[in-house]
Amino acid sequence: MITIAIAKGRMQESALALLARAGIRLSDDEINSRRLAITDESGQYRFIFVKPADVPVYVEHGIADCGIVGRDVLLESEADLLLPLDLGISRCRIVVAAADPQAMTNVQGMIRVATKYAQIARAHFGARGIPVEIIQLSGSVELAPALGLADMIVDLVETGVTLRENGLTVVDEIAESTGRLVVNRASYQLKSDEVGRLVSALEPVI
Ligand code: PRP
Repeated sequence: MITIAIAKGRMQESALALLARAGIRLSDDEINSRRLAITDESGQYRFIFVKPADVPVYVEHGIADCGIVGRDVLLESEADLLLPLDLGISRCRIVVAAADPQAMTNVQGMIRVATKYAQIARAHFGARGIPVEIIQLSGSVELAPALGLADMIVDLVETGVTLRENGLTVVDEIAESTGRLVVNRASYQLKSDEVGRLVSALEPVI
């Protein structure tokens, strides 16, 4: 049996739907329960459901052999993982957004950037030589400019509704993000049959 860590939240439903198309099914009762570790119907896979940022941690430490998580989380993480597949699920963009489309030129002094993605934001502005103060938040980042906490945000955009409803527009695009299959380096060698079976099951349904 191999263990697969799934990012809870926005990616979970599409990850489970993709796995079901690959013939890896979890019972509805198990999915609807509050258990955080469950086994698929064939008994070949154990799933653990964890916060997105914790997926690389569980996989790097070998507690999970594989994981399904967004590229946004992987860009932010420093975990050393193998990335065999782009699953194409939960497609979204990581963007810089602000209330004022001219924000980059209008802000005086250091730009205050609110985000859940401190590393991505720091790298993006750093590469452009723009000095920023990063304000680390854990969610509802779109509130920060309206309340005067920040001049801009770096966040995910999927439909664009959250930005629009909070009076923000995209001023720059940093990267695209989709769900990825990640694999622990040792598991890739030591459990190559099981990991290979999972990759072969997923490839045709991506
Ligand atoms: C994400 C992201 C945006 C929103 C974008 O938040 O941080 O807030 O979804 O989606 P949209 O473009 O379709 O409106 P999430 O729901 O993951 O929760 P969070 O506020 O805790 O970050």
